[in-house]
Parts: sequence; C-alpha cells; structure tokens
Amino acid sequence: MPRHETHAEAGLAAERGARWDGLLVNARLATLDGAEGYGDGIAGAPGTGLSPAGALGWRDGRIAFAGPAAALPARPDELAIEVIDAGGDLVTPGLVDCHTHLVFAGDRAAEFEQRLGGASYEEIARAGGGIVSTVRATRNASEDELLAQSLPRARALLADGVTTLEVKSGYGLDFASERRMLRVARRLGDALGIDVRTTFLGAHALPPESAGDAEGYIDAVCGWLPRLHAEGLVDAVDAFCERIGFSDDQTRRVFEAARALGLPVKLHADQLSDGGGAALVAAFGGLSADHVEHTSPAGVRAMAAAGTVAVLLPGAFHVLRETTLPPIDAFRAHGVPMAVATDCNPGTSPLLSLRQAMQLACTHFRLTPAEALRGATVHAARALGLDDRGRLRAGLRADFVRWRVREPAALCYWLGGDLVHSVFAGGRRMA
Ligand code: NIG
Ligand code: FE
Repeated sequence: MPRHETHAEAGLAAERGARWDGLLVNARLATLDGAEGYGDGIAGAPGTGLSPAGALGWRDGRIAFAGPAAALPARPDELAIEVIDAGGDLVTPGLVDCHTHLVFAGDRAAEFEQRLGGASYEEIARAGGGIVSTVRATRNASEDELLAQSLPRARALLADGVTTLEVKSGYGLDFASERRMLRVARRLGDALGIDVRTTFLGAHALPPESAGDAEGYIDAVCGWLPRLHAEGLVDAVDAFCERIGFSDDQTRRVFEAARALGLPVKLHADQLSDGGGAALVAAFGGLSADHVEHTSPAGVRAMAAAGTVAVLLPGAFHVLRETTLPPIDAFRAHGVPMAVATDCNPGTSPLLSLRQAMQLACTHFRLTPAEALRGATVHAARALGLDDRGRLRAGLRADFVRWRVREPAALCYWLGGDLVHSVFAGGRRMA
C-alpha cells in the first residue's frame, strides 16, 4: 500500500529543502581560501587569516556558507536542521592525500631491517627485492584479500583527516593484477565513503618475466591503459622515471598513450638522481612532479611555466635517510605550488597519517605549518586536477575536519596522537 505523507512530514520535508543540513558554529575556521597563509582574507594578516568565530554550513553535500559567524544571514537554528557548537575547535578542509600506493599485499619490514644493516634501497631493488617483492605478494592475493589488507590503511588515513585519497597501481605489473589493484582502490572509496582517485602506474618496475625487455614491457603497458580506462578505472597516469625505473624515452611513450586518451599525467621524478623527470612531466603539462629531491633549477623553471605542482614526500625522504633536500626555496621563488603527501607504500614510506607527513615536511624540508597545511589541502587537490575541494568556500564539496586543537600549527607540531574530533566527507560524518 502506498504510504501517504502526513502534513507534518510534508512540512518537515519542505523545511529540509529550505534549510541547510548542518551548521558548525563557534569554530576556528581555516578556509585555506586566500592567497597566502591559512587564508580566509578576513581576520588579519596573511598567514594568520583564520576566522576565530567562524561558521560552516552545508547542504546536499556542498558548502553553503564558510566565514565569520557574524556574517550568517539569519539565526543558526533558522538556517540549519542541525547546529553543532564546535567549542572553539579548529576546522579545516578535509585533507587530500594526493600520492599513495596503499593497495598492496604483505609488507617489507625485513627490508627495513636490511637497510638498517647498511643495504641501500637501490641495492635491495637490484637484488630482486624492493618493489618486485611486493609485486609477488600482490599477484598472489585475491581481490578480496587485497581489499581486506588495504582497508585498515585507508581507514587510518581517514581517521587522521583524509577525505580524498589517490591510490596508484604498480604492484601488479600484469594486466589482471593491475586491474585488480585499481578495482580495490575504487572499492575502498565505496567502503569508506571518501573519494578515491586512481592512477595507473604500470611503469613502476620491470616485472621479472620481462627482464631484459623494458621496451616490450612498455608496449604492453601502453596496450593495457585503454582497456583499464574503458572500465572507468583510471583517473591519471604515472611512471617511475629513474635509474632503477624507466628511461625518459620509455616514460614519454607512456605519457603519449595517456595523452591519446585525454588522461592527465604525473611522474615519480628525480627521487634518487636528477634524470630530468620534472622537466619531462612539465613538457606534457603534467599535474605534478613527485619526490623532486634532485630536481635541477631548469626543472623548477619548467614546472613553474607549466603550472605543475611539486608533490613533496617527506616520508620516503625520512625512511630512506636521504640527505638531498628538494629545492624548496626555488619552488617558493618561482611560485611552484608545493603539495605534501604520504606516499604510503610498503618500501619507502609505510606512513599512515597525512598529518604526520605534514610534520615531516616541516622538520625535514622547513615548510612553514601554513605551507604544510596548504600542501595537504588546496595544493594537493590541484595536484589531482580537482578544484572543488581543498578549501572551504560556498559551492565546494562539504569535506572538512574538526580538530581537537585551536591553532593550525598544532597539526604539524604533534607527532602522532589522536587530534581528530570528526571528519565529514560530502556533508556526511565519516569518522
Ligand atoms: O614512491 N619510487 C618508487 N615508488 C615508491 C616506492 C615503492 C616501493 O618501494 O614499494 C615511492 O617511493
Ligand atoms: Fe610513490
């Protein structure tokens, strides 16, 4: 029997339509929406632009209002169905982790011990360990096993404020296994209610069965890409351009295959040596050059001209005990936006908190806390080609975090700990 709405229910529905779904008041609001600093352009000098008595309203998954509560158009209870007093807590955009490899099977704790004993990352890779050892484990895992192993990692990132997550393939290195990884990445997003962006990284390492035939392997990678794309599994394309990865020419061929499909590119560039990777990805109008510890001044200039974001991965720098810093001052001088990401992976960066990556970016790379926060929000969104998030502004996605601290710098100050009060993605509470 069809159920008829009562007048009261119809009235409520009409009210629902008119009112916002939720409104946070009494928040210290870092909108990240200004030219500098935390940026809301309201409360004073650049770098301190924080609304101390801010409000954030949302409806149907989008932000309806972000700014000082004094500018709200009516009383909170007239405006929203649910009004939440944030008690003076800091509220920021949901964090965006724009570079991870978090879908994989097994771990490489044994290699961590080998490195502590003196072996280098490159030596281990050349001896058949490294990426290829994770490939073995990942190939042997079913889709459900991969999901079960990856879900707790994604959940940990969400619990520390991440609402958009990039996940790369690259531990399958055959068509079926790369596809399985990308499918698991999509399923993670469905399971957690956050947005997962997938990147095809078939050109991550040479699988053992292709030893001595990198060219043939790259042919295969270029052939898989359209098929994976046709299944809706690819948002962007990446490669590992390095002595122990692929050459410039091989990388270029992968990028051309991406371009033919209209897919954006990014690159693991200049991580262990200056291979001209940053300039190469910039020449393709790439979204980002990632790692970039060894990027030359010419590479920085090329990135600036192309609008390519520098994605800093201080977790890998830290774990590998690297000593060459990315050219941070040159990025600043040329206005290259710097993003910060976890690079979560079993080899170089078993890091399960983007806030921790921000901390490492401050301590190792001397980013200011404001730069680190921009790096994990607005610049990270840009590194994924997304302009509908990473800032708090009416019309953008209602992705935000309420923290148990008052100052943005505190996010980069604490090592570990549980600073998250609540995480909202698309206007729904997810953690
Ligand atoms: O971003 N450098 C290449 N890829 C990863 C490491 C992958 C691994 O060691 O499993 C990185 O550091
Ligand atoms: Fe990486």
